[in-house]
Amino acid sequence: MKAVVIRTFGDPDGLEVTDVPVPVPAPGQVRIATEAIGVGGVDAVIRRGALAAYGFREGHLLGSEVAGSVTAVGEGVDASWMGRRVWAFTGLSGGYAEQAVAAVEDVLALPDGLAGTDAVTLGGSGVVAHFALDRARFAPGETVLVRGAAGSIGITAVQLAAAGGAGAVAVTTSSAARGARLRDLGATHVLGRSGEGGPDAPGGFDLVIDVVGGPQLPLFLDRLNSNGRYVVVGVVGGQPPADFGMRLMDAFRRSLSFATLSTDTVPGPDRRAVRSSQFADAALGDLRTVVHEVLPLEQAALAHHAMDAGEVFGRIVLTP
Ligand SMILES: NC(=O)c1ccc[n+]([C@@H]2O[C@H](COP(=O)([O-])OP(=O)(O)OC[C@H]3O[C@@H](n4cnc5c(N)ncnc54)[C@H](OP(=O)(O)O)[C@@H]3O)[C@@H](O)[C@H]2O)c1
Repeated sequence: MKAVVIRTFGDPDGLEVTDVPVPVPAPGQVRIATEAIGVGGVDAVIRRGALAAYGFREGHLLGSEVAGSVTAVGEGVDASWMGRRVWAFTGLSGGYAEQAVAAVEDVLALPDGLAGTDAVTLGGSGVVAHFALDRARFAPGETVLVRGAAGSIGITAVQLAAAGGAGAVAVTTSSAARGARLRDLGATHVLGRSGEGGPDAPGGFDLVIDVVGGPQLPLFLDRLNSNGRYVVVGVVGGQPPADFGMRLMDAFRRSLSFATLSTDTVPGPDRRAVRSSQFADAALGDLRTVVHEVLPLEQAALAHHAMDAGEVFGRIVLTP
């Protein structure tokens, strides 16, 4: 079958379309004929070789999120999965292919009316947005800033905060055009990447949901209201300065909280319940997904070039 592997670490042209054997599901796994494959930021990090220390080698078959139909089940898996349309998390490999395997506990049946392209745009990131707001103890009326809102996590966080009755939903983004799209999804104030602009934006925020991290993180810690909560869910801008915690100590009397949130620590049944409910909402049109572009699997390198160039709003999806 056709698949895309990293032939050489580095730029997207090191990705190669190749032929690999169809995977055989191990006990507890299912095999899925893919109809949509999500292209995530972490794929680009692996492609560059930045995670080589974690065992990712050249030759790695990329991809962690697919939608499609179950074509085989491994030992111990209920045969009723056969033929069902599903979303699946494949781990950090195996998704960029015509067929992929996943542990059955990471597989969810798709509701009627939900396109595979939408499922792979929402499936992984929607739960991050949900549990970030949950971790930050979001309550109606509070002011929220979503930093790095133009990706799948931010787009969902903006909608959930708005639907949850936020007093304001500010976002950071890199252009007015992207800001306008975020307003359409529920943002009330648009700031630049450094938090500049938005003259009528709240002076401070009760919550910051941060997808970016990076050197400017301390600037946004300073934007918290007293009793404010800051949750980092991604580091698309890199690591923050090593001494960023001093900002919190300097503001000791304002009782600020800082947390990271990885959905790896959320119990599986809770993730499933939220994902299932978000898929149902998306099928009804109550939760919007933004598919930037759908490209054939063979053009995975083009998808990665677009990601590297910062052109993507939402998510790119590949189809076999
Ligand atoms: N916490 C978890 O459990 C979990 C799970 C899955 C993934 N993740 C993490 O989530 C992140 C990906 O999320 P995503 O797909 O929503 O994000 P994304 O699409 O990769 O990026 C979101 C936005 O951040 C802005 N941005 C990019 N680089 C920036 C920089 N250097 N400085 C400031 N802004 C920048 C861009 O928007 P503008 O150009 O409009 O500014 C971009 O559209 C990764 O770090 C991944 O590891 C976390």
